[in-house]
Amino acid sequence: MKVIYGLSENKAVSFLSEIIALERGMPLEVAKQVRTAAALHDIGKLKIPDSILNKPGALDKSEFEVIKTHTVLGAGMLSSIQGEMGEIARAVCLYHHEWHDGSKSYWGHRASNLPSYIQIVSISDVFTALMSKRSYKEAWPPSKALAFIQEQSGTQFEPELVAVLLSLINRDSRIPAIFTEGVTKIDRS
Ligand SMILES: [Fe+2]
Repeated sequence: MKVIYGLSENKAVSFLSEIIALERGMPLEVAKQVRTAAALHDIGKLKIPDSILNKPGALDKSEFEVIKTHTVLGAGMLSSIQGEMGEIARAVCLYHHEWHDGSKSYWGHRASNLPSYIQIVSISDVFTALMSKRSYKEAWPPSKALAFIQEQSGTQFEPELVAVLLSLINRDSRIPAIFTEGVTKIDRS
């Protein structure tokens, strides 16, 4: 089986997406769909060559153009999922790299004009990536990752969403532990 770098982070992205969705007042049924969609957000990377996916250094322009396609490829791979679940999963695949203000979006959209669950997955994805080890960086501590997310408020992320993430983590210090201890150790009662 092909191993995707970072795939094991999917549980953390999913978990965080679900609790943020609930925090934002989404019904449980929708939050569960967002959780599932979050788990599938990078599935298109299965079709990206390992040489690009795992490149230690910065990507050149043509390699970046290839990486961008994991969004479209992922949505295509999920084309048979029916109903609202399919719509959410495909939208998350397609648009999880769009920025709130559109300034550095993969596809030029303003995420502020897209369904709110997309940015929920985006912020969960970025926060998780920052706190995870990469071929080019060490895992960041929660405080450093949160400071970065705050710097991106209003540009990459909706300010209210940044505030929700901050308040969640201030309220429940166990949340960053999902990145080091595994989702199953979180007591959600
Ligand atoms: Fe992605």
